[in-house]
Parts: sequence; C-alpha cells; structure tokens
Amino acid sequence: MSCALARACVLGLLALGATGAAGAATDPAALRRGEAVYARCAACHAIEGHRTGPQHCGLFGRLAGTAPGFEGYSKALKQSHITWDARTLDLFLQNPTKAVPGTAMGYAGVKDPQERADLIAWMAEATRPGEACRPRP
Ligand code: HEC
Repeated sequence: MSCALARACVLGLLALGATGAAGAATDPAALRRGEAVYARCAACHAIEGHRTGPQHCGLFGRLAGTAPGFEGYSKALKQSHITWDARTLDLFLQNPTKAVPGTAMGYAGVKDPQERADLIAWMAEATRPGEACRPRP
C-alpha cells in the first residue's frame, strides 16, 4: 500500500480491519473454535449435501429457504426474505425460533456471542462455493 497520501493509508487500514467479520476470519484460533462449534450443527447439517437441514455450501449471499434441491424447508423460512450474511446469521443462530417463528430448525441456538462470532467467521470461509466447497444436490 502506498502511503504517499496519509488519508489513503488510513482508509486502507480501515478496509483491512473491516474484512472478515472484524478480523475474526483472519485469526486461525478463532476459525478453529468456530469449526468446533459447527460440530453441534453437524447432527443435521453438512457443508456439502443435504441432511435433516440444508447444505451450507454457498450460504452467504443466498436467500433463506433456497438451497437447490432441499425439500424440507418450512413455509416460515421460505417467506422470511432473509439474505444470509454475518448479521442475519448472528440474529438467527442466537435464537432460531424467535428470529423465524415457525422454523423447522429444532435447535435452541448458540447463546454465547463469541461462539457465534467464531462459528460465523469459520462458516464464511468454509461455505465459499467453488473454493472451499462444491454444492451438491
Ligand atoms: C436438529 C437439527 C438441526 C440442528 C442441530 C441445526 N439445524 Fe440448521 N436447520 C435445520 C433445518 C430442518 C433447517 C430448515 C429450517 C426451516 O426451513 O425452517 C435448518 C436451516 C438452517 C439455516 C437456513 C439455511 C437456508 O438454506 O436458508 C441455517 C443458516 C442453519 N440452519 C444453520 C445452522 C447452524 C449454524 C447450526 C449449528 C449451530 C444448525 N443450523 C443446527 C436443522 C438443524
């Protein structure tokens, strides 16, 4: 990064800080913790392929209830108009049945904010279609 202009440097640093959920995604320890939290989801989910719940490959930027080939969505989730990103996942995962009343996801949620942040940072990396995973019907 060229620092000929002090302002450009400051903006550059801000941009660096903003990437990856406030730096969490660049912290390998946080990613490892996030992967460990995902073990709770693996009873029903996989990154690649549908189980009781839909696959998570390609989750970020996807409209809720639209993983191709998954038939088990509730009407509530399909009609929620949520687009999945770090913020909407944080809200949903804190308390799924409160965030989307009528959801078919029978899971109490991840109550610890740090655990959620680590989980979401790990998922942002692990669900990148074509890079980290391949969507499977
Ligand atoms: C008991 C099974 C179960 C567990 C455990 C579970 N889920 Fe789910 N999940 C589901 C089901 C079923 C759905 C579909 C919900 C609906 O349609 O209302 C779902 C939906 C989702 C969605 C929306 C996906 C989409 O395509 O719109 C996300 C995101 C999600 N789960 C994340 C997680 C995470 C992260 C965990 C672990 C912290 C987890 N789930 C734990 C069963 C589960």
